Amino acid sequence: PRPWRGVIEEYRSWLPVGPDTPVVTLCEGGTPLVPSAWLAEVTGCEVWIKVEGDNPTGSFKDRGMTVAVSKAAEAGVKMVVCASTGNTSASAAAYASRAGLQPVVLVPEGRIAQGKLAQAIVHGARLLQVRGNFDDCLRLARGLAEEYPVVLVNSANEDNYRLAGQKTAAFEVVDVLGDAPDLHLLPVGNAGNVTAYWAGYQEYAAAGHATRLPRMWGFQAAGAAPIVAGQPVEHPETVATAIRVGRPARWTQAVAARDESGGRIDAVPDEEILAAQSKLAAREGVFVEPASAVGVAGLLRAQAEGLVDPGQRIVITVTGHGLKDVDTALAAAGDLVKLVVPPDPEATARALELR
Ligand code: F0G
Repeated sequence: PRPWRGVIEEYRSWLPVGPDTPVVTLCEGGTPLVPSAWLAEVTGCEVWIKVEGDNPTGSFKDRGMTVAVSKAAEAGVKMVVCASTGNTSASAAAYASRAGLQPVVLVPEGRIAQGKLAQAIVHGARLLQVRGNFDDCLRLARGLAEEYPVVLVNSANEDNYRLAGQKTAAFEVVDVLGDAPDLHLLPVGNAGNVTAYWAGYQEYAAAGHATRLPRMWGFQAAGAAPIVAGQPVEHPETVATAIRVGRPARWTQAVAARDESGGRIDAVPDEEILAAQSKLAAREGVFVEPASAVGVAGLLRAQAEGLVDPGQRIVITVTGHGLKDVDTALAAAGDLVKLVVPPDPEATARALELR
């Protein structure tokens, strides 16, 4: 066995890179597909969790960023810019700095998890907090890229570099399972990832690597569910800050992925997102950030509504690591983290109700 080389070298022929593209990689991708006994029991299905928090900067964004930043380096630019709810900025900062480019990131003021803010800064980004939401940040980032010699590395980009890299996650699922699943669930924010997975599954099947296509089930947070509502949300609100997006850039493509695959896009309330996050951590040992638990919450909700036929093979993408946003996890834990004992064996045993 040889070491994993990152998504560009592993899937080079599927990606828009040439022999002269300088490969900027942190050996992203190759993430685990973990079986879930809990969700299998609940649904009567075979359920696999694609753990994208295991990427180098802790989210799936690294798959697309290796391509976007490699292409920016190839083009000879000096500066890259992105709008972000946090994970894209963390990833852009790491990859751009590695390539010797200056990362600039625009994030909604006070609305991104602390871990992500720290990542952007330690990786050397020029960080601007924008007094507005993600949609405002994206508008500003696009404007900068139009006016100045700065390359936009958002998945909204017409060059599709980010989406090209992100579709490798679908390739990996097929490579590991031997075929596409019946159903693929994932969270939807700006709607780039659902678009990328659907493209990946289609390309792999067209090339004969899979015999079928999954139905794509995407989920938005109830307070930020423009695709479900069929209209933009001016003031999106959700505990899942990563997907607090009111005007998804890939709206049309997400709807196409839904309709072409015979899938659905639905919304889940914040309470169910947090409950799914906590159960996934406590029962399966997989700690994800709130937005990343949305697919799991969606599956549980669909199961309760009788929409999940047993016997299917299901893959759920959990998109980012739980350590990105410890504040939300600690707030949910409440008094559980406040138990203090003296350095005394009896008191310790009593506190643990062992005596
Ligand atoms: N999960 C996480 C953890 C995310 O950070 C995002 C998007 C999504 C899901 C949704 O993916 O936008 O492709 O539909 N985060 C972006 C960011 C918006 O700026 O980091 P999507």
